[in-house]
Amino acid sequence: MRLTISFVIALLASIAICGQQPLNLIPYPVKVEQLPGTYVMKNKMTFSSAFPAQEQSRVNAYLKDQLKKNYNIDMVEAVKGKPADIILFARRMPTSGKIAYELKVDKQGIRIDANFDVAAFYAVQTLLQLLPVEGGVKREIPYVTIFDQPRFDYRGMHLDVGRHFFPVAFIKRYIDYLAYHKFNTFHWHLTEDQGWRIEIKKYPKLTSIGGWRNGTIIGRYPGKGNDNISYGGFYTQEEIKDVVKYASDRFIEVIPEIEMPGHGSAAIAAYPWLSCFPKKPTAIPANMISTKSVEEQKNGRIKLVQETWGVFDDVFCAGNDSTFLFLENVIDEVITLFPSNYFHLGADECPKTHWKQCPRCQQRMKELKLKDEHELQSWFVQRIEKYLNTKGKTLIGWDEILEGGLAPNAVVMSWRGEAGGIEAAKQKHKVIMTPGNPVYFDHTQSLNEDSVTIGGYNPLEKVYAYEPVPKELNEEQSKYVLGAQANVWTEYMMNTRKVEYMIFPRMSALSEVVWSPKENRNWESFEKRLPAQIKRYEKWKANYSKAFFDLKATTLPTGNFDGVLWKLETKQPSTEIKYIEHFAGRPYELKFTEGKKYTTPVPLSSTRLMAAISMVNGNSVSNPVYQNFLFNKATGKKITLVNQPSTKYPGDGPFTLVNGVQNEKGLARSKEFIGFEGTDCEAVIDLGKDEEISVIRAYVFEQKASWIYPPSSVLYYTSDDGINFKQITDGNYTAIVPNEPVRKMDITFSKRKAKYVKVLIKNFGVIPDGMAGAGNKPWLFVDEIEVN
Ligand code: ACM
Ligand code: ZN
Repeated sequence: MRLTISFVIALLASIAICGQQPLNLIPYPVKVEQLPGTYVMKNKMTFSSAFPAQEQSRVNAYLKDQLKKNYNIDMVEAVKGKPADIILFARRMPTSGKIAYELKVDKQGIRIDANFDVAAFYAVQTLLQLLPVEGGVKREIPYVTIFDQPRFDYRGMHLDVGRHFFPVAFIKRYIDYLAYHKFNTFHWHLTEDQGWRIEIKKYPKLTSIGGWRNGTIIGRYPGKGNDNISYGGFYTQEEIKDVVKYASDRFIEVIPEIEMPGHGSAAIAAYPWLSCFPKKPTAIPANMISTKSVEEQKNGRIKLVQETWGVFDDVFCAGNDSTFLFLENVIDEVITLFPSNYFHLGADECPKTHWKQCPRCQQRMKELKLKDEHELQSWFVQRIEKYLNTKGKTLIGWDEILEGGLAPNAVVMSWRGEAGGIEAAKQKHKVIMTPGNPVYFDHTQSLNEDSVTIGGYNPLEKVYAYEPVPKELNEEQSKYVLGAQANVWTEYMMNTRKVEYMIFPRMSALSEVVWSPKENRNWESFEKRLPAQIKRYEKWKANYSKAFFDLKATTLPTGNFDGVLWKLETKQPSTEIKYIEHFAGRPYELKFTEGKKYTTPVPLSSTRLMAAISMVNGNSVSNPVYQNFLFNKATGKKITLVNQPSTKYPGDGPFTLVNGVQNEKGLARSKEFIGFEGTDCEAVIDLGKDEEISVIRAYVFEQKASWIYPPSSVLYYTSDDGINFKQITDGNYTAIVPNEPVRKMDITFSKRKAKYVKVLIKNFGVIPDGMAGAGNKPWLFVDEIEVN
């Protein structure tokens, strides 16, 4: 082998690039070799392709359009016999038939080798990302050789258009975002309790009635009344075809979801006979219903499209054959619009209350010898699956389809964590991973979130770190994991700006999770590429969350138990952090320009509001962070836990209970709690010296829908030596305040001296029947322990 000088230089250069700024590509390709030099695009770029004309037409058309639109470059057919500037070759790849491409840029121009047209399309996406984000006159591309292929076959994004409806123009934009990130599947959630969004010609009322609701609750559930504004919309079949074609031109498969047997209130409002109880009024609580709906129900229109969020008892009757005839007719129309081999039938969150009371459902169970309503649901799903299979379609369902037995060929979408996905893969069923934590993009991505979200905290880092193949699966079982998807439920996304704010930049992180090899994934590298990506969002005029740039505030122990430290960090290196210690008055009047310059963690030893912001030349470049510190005799003191919290909710360790920070935002700030799964919290606090005390108070959090329960009891003790504890039995307990997410559980007693305090907070035990998670261990979430 003869090493040429240029080869050696190239090799050295490519080595030197390691550890430096990587190329601004997302998702990052399998192998990137950057060489010295750049290729300058011309005003007119000639193009030739060795792909069969039919196959390359979508690739060619897309590239031509993008170059013209963003860079004013004309792409024209090369004259026969003359070398082209952009060459597309069809070539076998060493990837056992899996799609792959190679992209080479050198002084001759751009050469793409791909084994399929779809691979060539991804090469084109990479090529476009190599061009400067700004567009305009500077149209240079670095010399590179890139080899690339996707890790997973299924790379999906979902969108719920039921809770809020988005116009076709936005759906196309959304598809563009997917294409740019090399996603290949758009999961279109088309029907919901709050609106049916797809025209079905045989059942026109599905959209004329089911497409509209009389109002919507205001704010976060349970809301502050109803806005009384008629809301709705739907896609015509022509529009659907147009979207599917648009997606197909970008190599994206659209999977429709038609929900059954639950989440069907809108369909039932249109055709009440779909319900087990057609004459039973739709249940909307009095404090949530619109005035028009109250009026209509009074006048006899008793089935309504839902106006609030959640899970509803009124579901499709499983005992009525007309239900199935209806669903088959709907399916017949839907499948003519979607060429995808998959059909998503939902099947999540279907309460069994009505089925238990419905004579027809009970009769069906008797005839089929089904032992419970879960088996009835399983039978329902299998009956639909058989029908879909006769039409050449494969069923996908949420992980509830495991309950009562899985339909033979069904694909499982694992959303309630990974357990459903693991179970299905072990049963040799294909699985798509979409666990709420961390790929539900309706959860907040900022600890300083001002807008209303559904709760939970899925920051960018957590999404980036997600591994779709659970470690519980062996190599053989892992093959059943087709890939992953983020879900975008839109209860709290009223408009397209909010959708963008929730998906970006998390979608960019997810694209790398599903595309790039596991061993190549590197957070530091992603962080370096993110600023260029943000410039792209801006170029697209897309909204995005700046949570990544939030000031990060943490509370730390001082080391000698005499208070706490407030630590601030920023990801914007050239900014100055200003902070204010505030004791009274309204925080929005704070003048940060007059604040103190932050250099090192601030020691605190008494109650106050802390506020901070990032500034450049006196102008703020971040949202402010606020933190109330409430001091008492236990704050900052030494604390030990007898048994440790769950690793799922460790907070900042035992210190979380005495850090002076009380939760004000529920689960969006889950780090402010420590969580015990079925076990008790027993905490001992060393007050440091003999203190005169008369109140001990524990703050616990309650959210029964999330399996978080208040304690069954709380016991309080004092001690002089930390060994012998005496229970306080002569105190007064405060009554438990219902409907408050954070409960104060306290005891007031006659003044006494103590150096140690112990609190034993007992777990609720078992989730009662009729509640979400019945029979499981409830969570105990503890926030703060106060001593005064
Ligand atoms: C779901 O989030 N109910 C699938
Ligand atoms: Zn029924």
